[in-house]
Amino acid sequence: MSHEIEVSLSVNGERVTRRVEARQHLIDFLRLELSLTGSHTGCEHGVCGACTVRVDNRIVRGCLVLAASLDGASVETIEGLSETGEIRDLQDAFIARNACQCGYCTPGMLLAAAELLRVKARPTREEIREYLAGNYCRCTGYHAIVDAIEATAAARNPPRQG
Ligand code: FES
Ligand code: FES
Repeated sequence: MSHEIEVSLSVNGERVTRRVEARQHLIDFLRLELSLTGSHTGCEHGVCGACTVRVDNRIVRGCLVLAASLDGASVETIEGLSETGEIRDLQDAFIARNACQCGYCTPGMLLAAAELLRVKARPTREEIREYLAGNYCRCTGYHAIVDAIEATAAARNPPRQG
């Protein structure tokens, strides 16, 4: 027997009200119910980071959060962040350094990178690597991703003159 729960939440600034299966995860809710397919499904066990989205201003793994638990929450996805321009410089840096190859990890990587740069303006390369340890990339070897984040941090925080 299916058990559905009504939730009303904000997704990328828009109010969304739906009846959801009690066990439906946020990533499936976003992709299947709302056609927001920018966030990806990988391991579905909280390991790979492909499903990273923001809930109430903090990044979470969409495969570990139940949609039914998000009544009243504010969810932001890669589509929302792209539309507001909040991460345009990061996106440009990823492209410039070939930090997205197949692109499967990229949305989650961008959300994690954006969060890191909010909590630490000029992270070291080691800190970047550490912060991204929960976001797997099978293509790039991570070097270009770290380069892109480091370059974005430097551009946002130019050295003071004089
Ligand atoms: S799909 Fe969520 S962490 Fe891998
Ligand atoms: S670019 Fe392919 S998994 Fe990261």
